[in-house]
Amino acid sequence: MPTSFNNAFADKVVLITGGTAGIGRATAVAFARQGAKVVVSGRREIEGEESVALVGKAGGKGLFVRADVSREEDVAALVARTVEHFGRLDIAFNNAGVIERALTTDITIESYEHIFGINVRGVAFSLKHQIAAMLKTGGGSVVNNASVLGIRPYPELSLYNASKFAVIGLTKTAALEFATKGIRVNAVCPAIIETDMTAIAREDEQTRNALLSTHPVRRFGTPEEVANAVLWLSSPDSGFITGINLPVDGGFTV
Ligand SMILES: NC(=O)c1ccc[n+]([C@@H]2O[C@H](COP(=O)([O-])OP(=O)(O)OC[C@H]3O[C@@H](n4cnc5c(N)ncnc54)[C@H](O)[C@@H]3O)[C@@H](O)[C@H]2O)c1
Repeated sequence: MPTSFNNAFADKVVLITGGTAGIGRATAVAFARQGAKVVVSGRREIEGEESVALVGKAGGKGLFVRADVSREEDVAALVARTVEHFGRLDIAFNNAGVIERALTTDITIESYEHIFGINVRGVAFSLKHQIAAMLKTGGGSVVNNASVLGIRPYPELSLYNASKFAVIGLTKTAALEFATKGIRVNAVCPAIIETDMTAIAREDEQTRNALLSTHPVRRFGTPEEVANAVLWLSSPDSGFITGINLPVDGGFTV
């Protein structure tokens, strides 16, 4: 971790959805290195407990709470459990997300429900319950994981693109609504990051080279590089910033 953030996260309570793998897990560990208390959430208990163990190793206190973000009752219970266990909620990273590929003429209702249920409903109702909890303690910071594809669409990913455009819309609306209440809401927009989500695309040489050519730095990003951006957006160092969608993209959107 390049900066110490002047101890800004010591004892802060952080909630991360989709914390069982990839970017979510790396962000949980990054917050833990700064002394935060981290609630790792997801649907998979074994992987969730593994993330909590990594949080402990990194110097933080962790708790796994099982939750499917597409269900409002799970999201509400997750926030309630966080406040019950650690006393408050200071920072949330709405990271859980899924992708499916199809031409616009081939999309299905099932895929629409799946992608929008997790990527859009999940973020919308997470914001609802997280911000309500933060208002009780006078403020907080939320970062949503959108994508560069929420800024510039890519073919054959129409539902995913649309879901990430929606995440940015939710981010900006909540930022406006709670700007005077001490709550900042921002989004990160990663390009291709080396996680399970992109493994298949990165393994095929032709696809890999085509994708690399869309990244001016000619490499993909790491989960830790996204985590660094999330920590910065959650820290007082970015205190005058709200409602932005920050590309973490090696130049993809330039
Ligand atoms: N990897 C990339 O290149 C990339 C680029 C841009 C944006 N993103 C976004 O980053 C986020 C994390 O992706 P990742 O690359 O780490 O992928 P990943 O597949 O490794 O992780 C996704 C996480 O979300 C969880 N999840 C999925 N559905 C869920 C649900 N219903 N409830 C709770 N958790 C659920 C998974 O279990 C997993 O922990 C996603 O929102 C993704 O759209 C990823």
